[in-house]
Amino acid sequence: MFNPYKVREDFPILKRKIDGNQIIYFDNAATSQKPRQVIEAMKKFYEEQNANVHRAVHTLSLEATELYEEAHEEVAEFIGAKSMEEIIFVRGTTEAINLVAYSWGLHNLKRGDEVLVTLMEHHSNIVPWEILSEIKGFKVKYLDVNLDGTLNYELLKEMLTPRVRLVCVTHVSNVTGVINDVETVAKLAHENDALVLVDGAQSVPHIPVNVQKLDCDFLAFSGHKMLGPTGIGVLYGKREILEKMKPFHGGGGMINEVSFNLEMHRCKISWNELPWRFEAGTPDIGGAVGLTAAIKYLRTLGMENVKTHEYKLTEYTMKHLKECPKVTVYGPKDAALKCGIIPFNVERLDSHDVALLLNSYGIMIRSGFHCAQPLHEKLKIPSSARVSFYVYNTQEEVDRFIEALKEIEGVL
Ligand SMILES: Cc1ncc(COP(=O)(O)O)c(C=O)c1O
Repeated sequence: MFNPYKVREDFPILKRKIDGNQIIYFDNAATSQKPRQVIEAMKKFYEEQNANVHRAVHTLSLEATELYEEAHEEVAEFIGAKSMEEIIFVRGTTEAINLVAYSWGLHNLKRGDEVLVTLMEHHSNIVPWEILSEIKGFKVKYLDVNLDGTLNYELLKEMLTPRVRLVCVTHVSNVTGVINDVETVAKLAHENDALVLVDGAQSVPHIPVNVQKLDCDFLAFSGHKMLGPTGIGVLYGKREILEKMKPFHGGGGMINEVSFNLEMHRCKISWNELPWRFEAGTPDIGGAVGLTAAIKYLRTLGMENVKTHEYKLTEYTMKHLKECPKVTVYGPKDAALKCGIIPFNVERLDSHDVALLLNSYGIMIRSGFHCAQPLHEKLKIPSSARVSFYVYNTQEEVDRFIEALKEIEGVL
């Protein structure tokens, strides 16, 4: 049985009190807290195993290399990739998407092509495409969303012309929590010979994700949102596509050979194998160790249990938010269409004021645009307050949150 109270015991930070209030952390879509198991795995690495990878022949380096490679294997298994060669470690979702833009997009997109981006994307899945389109002359087209924040699949069918080479879609919206049917998006895109890049920043930590089932070409996600440390994230890519892509960053580790031709005064370079070809320089080895521990922790909990727990909390919260007459909730009314993210506003209050007032109760939420300004503009919301749940949140915490909101409403 999944028990959030037992889970909480593993998270030292949740014991913290601020101004006498036991903290309630509802800002999980921004970053998650870290269990003892992750902190201890990283501590052990730095105290006992630290060395650089893929370089030396000494014991510490061999151990560090083994841990680093194990992390790739662990991620591959977690998301159902065919092999660890399809798993590239980067700093986070943002860097993973930029890798696709500059390794694939720079060499494959040209004037006349289109990249289709949904209006609910995080800025990290919009800005790289806008920057690259200025260099390469292709068009970025935006796929509209419905007023409840769900994707417009009929429009997608219409917009998928032969000009579209890539579809960029988030698996779960970081504003509304809407879960997109990326399997269908991938099927439609592939029928049109376009590739699909899925932003998994808000899905991989919260629901079971299998890249072979989704049949996406790329999947990007961040370790820090799934109980792991900051500074490590993942780009999954189908092997046959990665094989044909040019490297992103140049430097040590990503080459096979750099030989200097004396006559030509140039270096001849051959690339390393996958995935190292895309991991130039010293990687975040400690981060990889932490990510392995985070994944092992999530696997022990079971991703179906994680999903169900968050669904129940979301449904419960949405039900009780109805008791707050000055609160408007955005996104679909049916919690089954969502992950554990709820955006809302309180009448006459700016979202930052709502967050500040809740902070005085020890409740940490996010306010603003959440790096998704176009979606806010589409939904005609100036900004929003957002609660987002994870494995250690409880109904009791939701009750305290609702009580606090009622008190805030009372003084308005
Ligand atoms: C949907 C989505 N995509 C991308 C990102 C960017 O992730 P990172 O800052 O870890 O690169 C986030 C972070 O909030 C997100 O929610």
